[in-house]
Amino acid sequence: MSLEVLQNVETASRKFRELRQKGFSLGLVPTMGALHEGHLSLVRRAAKENDVVVVSVFVNPAQFDDPDDLKSYPQDFEVDRTLLESAGTNLVFYPDAKAMYPDDYRYKVSENSDSLLLEGSHRQGYFDGVLTVVLKLLNIVGADRAYFGEKDWQQFSLIRGMAEAFFLDTEIVPCPLVREDDGLAMSSRNVRLTPAEREKAPAFHRILAGSGTLESKAAELEKAGFHVDYVEERGDRILGAVHLGKVRLIDNVRI
Ligand code: PAJ
Repeated sequence: MSLEVLQNVETASRKFRELRQKGFSLGLVPTMGALHEGHLSLVRRAAKENDVVVVSVFVNPAQFDDPDDLKSYPQDFEVDRTLLESAGTNLVFYPDAKAMYPDDYRYKVSENSDSLLLEGSHRQGYFDGVLTVVLKLLNIVGADRAYFGEKDWQQFSLIRGMAEAFFLDTEIVPCPLVREDDGLAMSSRNVRLTPAEREKAPAFHRILAGSGTLESKAAELEKAGFHVDYVEERGDRILGAVHLGKVRLIDNVRI
């Protein structure tokens, strides 16, 4: 099966339904494009565990509270398409905002507790936007499994919570965080770092994973030139978010 790109919601839904009826298992990897090895590790995992791999590429306006961040979000569909094909993708779902939000975002999913903390406390409405688009994607694709990176730990745990709360059929599968050789967590936003910032960036992970208390890590990060949004412990993880120049970075390490 060579790579096929579907943009229309109805056509795509029909295609996914036919595949399910033929007995193929479907694995879904939701993305916003600007793909790197982190995304591709999810695709390869999905290809191992399913007959058909569906990757969605959709820069979701509902999860951006800053119009400049949305406008400057890196996008190159042709590059993404080539990478997806080589990683074993069968179908790319590539809708536009009108197709995904026929209701103009009048209807949304919200979570009223954990989504307001950490990432949610720094980005207004962020997780409502994420949960809403992921529910739409899960409904359209009807996948057996959907794959999410532990890079976005809070996102993964809220999506898993939503799947349980709404009795969704799709299994939510967490995948390990992929790093650059120097330890920096791979992210689509890394390309926006200046060369000097890029050199400094691995210190974020080094300090987060190093010794000391949450407070001392935050202080060390500030001293190293990061502006700290938070360094907090949740379950067996330490989660952090910082600004480096104009770029916001997140990371987490297992304790
Ligand atoms: P995006 O940032 O494009 O990430 C898509 C998926 O790739 C997410 O599950 C994310 O956790 C995973 N990912 C990104 N960088 C990773 C890394 N370094 N290692 C492992 N996995 C990584 O997350 C989103 O898009 C959106 O919020 C989305 C879920 C698609 C909803 O719009």
